[in-house]
Amino acid sequence: MDHIVLLTGAGISAESGLGTFRDADGLWTRYDLADVATPEGYVRDPDLVLDFYNARRRNCAEAAPNAAHRALARLAEAARVTLITQNIDDLHERGGSGEVIHMHGEIMRALCGNCGHRWGWRGDMGRADRCPSCQSTGSVRPDVVWFGEIPYHLERISAALSSADLFVAIGTSGAVYPAAGFVSEARALGVETLEINLDPSEVAGQFDRQILGKATETVPLWVEGLLS
Ligand code: OAD
Repeated sequence: MDHIVLLTGAGISAESGLGTFRDADGLWTRYDLADVATPEGYVRDPDLVLDFYNARRRNCAEAAPNAAHRALARLAEAARVTLITQNIDDLHERGGSGEVIHMHGEIMRALCGNCGHRWGWRGDMGRADRCPSCQSTGSVRPDVVWFGEIPYHLERISAALSSADLFVAIGTSGAVYPAAGFVSEARALGVETLEINLDPSEVAGQFDRQILGKATETVPLWVEGLLS
């Protein structure tokens, strides 16, 4: 196996205690994504949006990586792996993965909406916070991609897919594009595809193979099988 491209979603962090978005108790059943995850929502009510992400950041800081995160880090030590995640948490990194492509940004980073400066951020964020580069206030936001914004690193992801031998989607519902379209992009390139998920995703029919079950059980077993 030469080059494995992995795409992870909220399902891989579910057993670390971080909520998914679209499961029965998911975040989007309790919050309207138009209110908390769009540029328009931020303009309407910045405090609501900052508080939503302050809670996500606190949950992330309290969570620990699980066996699935660690297994993917082991895989990357033994094979050529490109790890793409839709998750804004840092559990892949804390689970031992060196290079992670965060296509939807990172909750532990800040972005200045005024000058575009990005930097690490640990505590709560408020409207009085100041950008260390342009010194403006009222423009500091979490460095996460909202609906209506363009995900990060798309060129790098396309390049990785075009040299992949295997594409694996783990713990993602296939509801959000462009990530949900990577499987069809991979197939069009003749790349083998595998879905590892609790339930079949919305794009399950496009994968060559499927492994269903909890990520902490399925992912370590799959990695062991590949490495043995
Ligand atoms: P979703 O909440 O849409 O989907 C989570 C997936 O994980 C579902 O298919 C579940 O079946 C699966 N799952 C749940 N628990 C699992 C477990 N223990 N083991 C394995 N799989 C499990 O989350 P995403 O697909 O990541 O974007 O959502 C994609 C994007 O939509 C997010 O990045 C976020 C969200 O809105 C933005 O906010 C821009």
